[in-house]
Amino acid sequence: MRQFLLCASALGVLLGAGVLAQNVTTVEEYAQLMKANAQAVGGMNKAIGSGTYADARMSLATLRKNYMALQGFWTDKKRDDAVVIVKDGLTRLDALDKTLSAATVDQMAAQAAAKEFGGATCGACHKLYREGDAQSGFKFKAGVI
Ligand code: HEC
Repeated sequence: MRQFLLCASALGVLLGAGVLAQNVTTVEEYAQLMKANAQAVGGMNKAIGSGTYADARMSLATLRKNYMALQGFWTDKKRDDAVVIVKDGLTRLDALDKTLSAATVDQMAAQAAAKEFGGATCGACHKLYREGDAQSGFKFKAGVI
């Protein structure tokens, strides 16, 4: 039974990833995904702060899904540096997911890891490939798409 449950949940993860890692191709889809990123990261930080780790993991799952889509997008654009950032993000999310699944969650460590995830991945890519600001609007740096 346990074996079956493990298999079933592994399959669920596979199917989930397959269904959820949609393609992002247009600028509009990309902006949508970024807005979802901002919401998910905000939700995750808030949940970690208030010790509701199951909720934090739900936001983390959204981020993972988004990063899978980003991986495809930047691979298509042949921007290896962006792909490296995205892959690093996925590795960081896996590590944070483990921290959040522990029997006793190290809240400080989780907070630090979430912050690092934001700086090292969201922040790093924005520095390389994003232009603009909240007032005038954000866009891709010239030549990316
Ligand atoms: C691999 C590159 C990359 C990563 C990783 C990345 N972004 Fe972005 N982001 C961009 C680019 C390029 C833009 C500009 C295009 C746009 O605005 O859609 C952008 C735009 C945005 C915007 C503005 C959206 C709009 O157009 O109004 C927000 C908000 C945002 N990102 C949040 C995040 C957050 C939060 C994360 C991390 C969880 C993140 N991004 C990770 C590249 C990235």
